[in-house]
Amino acid sequence: MKVAVLGAAGGIGQALALLLKLDLPAGSTLSLYDVAPVTPGVAKDLSHIPSSVTVDGVGGDDPTAVLEGADVVLISAGVARKPGMDRSDLFNINAGIIKTLIGKVADVAPTACIGVITNPVNTTVAIAAEVLKAKGVYNKNKLFGISTLDVIRAEEFVGELKGIPSEDVFVNVIGGHSGTTILPLLSQVQNVEFTDQEVIDLTDRIQNAGTEVVNAKAGGGSATLSMARAAAVFGVNLVKALSGKQGIIQNAYVDGGNPDSPFFAQPLLLGKNGIDRVLPCGELSAFEEAKKQEMLSVLHADIKLGVDFVNN
Ligand SMILES: NC(=O)c1ccc[n+]([C@@H]2O[C@H](COP(=O)([O-])OP(=O)(O)OC[C@H]3O[C@@H](n4cnc5c(N)ncnc54)[C@H](O)[C@@H]3O)[C@@H](O)[C@H]2O)c1
Repeated sequence: MKVAVLGAAGGIGQALALLLKLDLPAGSTLSLYDVAPVTPGVAKDLSHIPSSVTVDGVGGDDPTAVLEGADVVLISAGVARKPGMDRSDLFNINAGIIKTLIGKVADVAPTACIGVITNPVNTTVAIAAEVLKAKGVYNKNKLFGISTLDVIRAEEFVGELKGIPSEDVFVNVIGGHSGTTILPLLSQVQNVEFTDQEVIDLTDRIQNAGTEVVNAKAGGGSATLSMARAAAVFGVNLVKALSGKQGIIQNAYVDGGNPDSPFFAQPLLLGKNGIDRVLPCGELSAFEEAKKQEMLSVLHADIKLGVDFVNN
């Protein structure tokens, strides 16, 4: 399997590439692309780490060589949020980058699975879908907004609060991938009881965890290491499923036919062709159902922004 990372010289991209070099199945190829000229050097640096994963890298304007033959394309190219930056500043730059890069993926690797990390994911995934549709190569089973960071944060925060190993905690996080659209279904967490106040506080913390990092980095960027870990978990699981491993379930933000929204994060059974089956979200508590109803208009507006960006 060949995995391409676009944006590979960035904070997320470099850490993601390191984790993929260590965690991809033996025999995989890891191909790195970034506009930054340091990119071949990042690949050279990684190539000195003993593992059975081959690495190469290209910098500059043309990702063609990196995309050729790619089975999975993970995209973290863009700008990260800084304090004081509003969502529309971020949107205008990243929307254009995603539109261009997805156009290239459509031309060079039209059957690849695509995982979008670049924010705002609620909107960039809708942009990607519209570009792929316009190119006639859209396969809704192969386009994913990577929302795994919400899942691993939720699991870590629950473990921390309850004094249990987070490796034993599973949290189903649904909806979108920003602010109130992130909906952790704490009522479904096995063997853990929460008070009503704990549910309110934990939900709020999970929804605003990105801001915790942005503020703590004091102008130095947003989550990179935890995001890299999240994308590596998702990417490695996707590669294993594409290679035939059965029973792999991951949450991601997809065009999965959810009646609530054209794109929605929920559990997915992955298989040889991307999404094998979209799994149900399960039962929601009254609190969660109310939170879901409240956020849907935000999610729908985020998606419309992406559709309009490409078509208007
Ligand atoms: N999905 C999530 O959970 C999540 C979490 C954190 C950050 N993010 C997003 O990930 C993105 C990257 O964050 P980062 O911290 O790595 O930023 P960064 O600035 O460190 O890295 C971004 C990289 O993208 C590259 N780049 C810019 N335009 C490009 C293009 N057209 N083609 C190829 N590469 C290009 C830059 O050269 C840079 O190396 C941001 O949009 C950020 O908001 C997503």
